[in-house]
Amino acid sequence: AKIIFVDHDGTKHEVEASVGSNVMQAAVDNNIEGIDGDCGGMCACATCHVTVDPEWFAKTGARSENEESMLTFLPEIAETARLGCQIEITDELDGLVVHLPIEQF
Ligand code: FES
Repeated sequence: AKIIFVDHDGTKHEVEASVGSNVMQAAVDNNIEGIDGDCGGMCACATCHVTVDPEWFAKTGARSENEESMLTFLPEIAETARLGCQIEITDELDGLVVHLPIEQF
């Protein structure tokens, strides 16, 4: 599936991610700046924080309770904030657009 990462300055990075992987992994595999994935996708570091494009938010599914509590540690989050490692890549998400928060650069 195609995932599009948009930098804080509007630069778009288009990457190919395999179904079953997740948004954090796709970013790390493609050296996308702004996503570190320090905990390796354990929902424990919040360095994979992204803001999902509103048009796509419903398709990415619901936040888990763990994810919800990790997000509360961040200084400021958008309504469509998610942890990248908790968004599993599915065929439905082909073309997904996520924005990278400026604080992570
Ligand atoms: Fe650590 Fe997602 S990679 S919370």
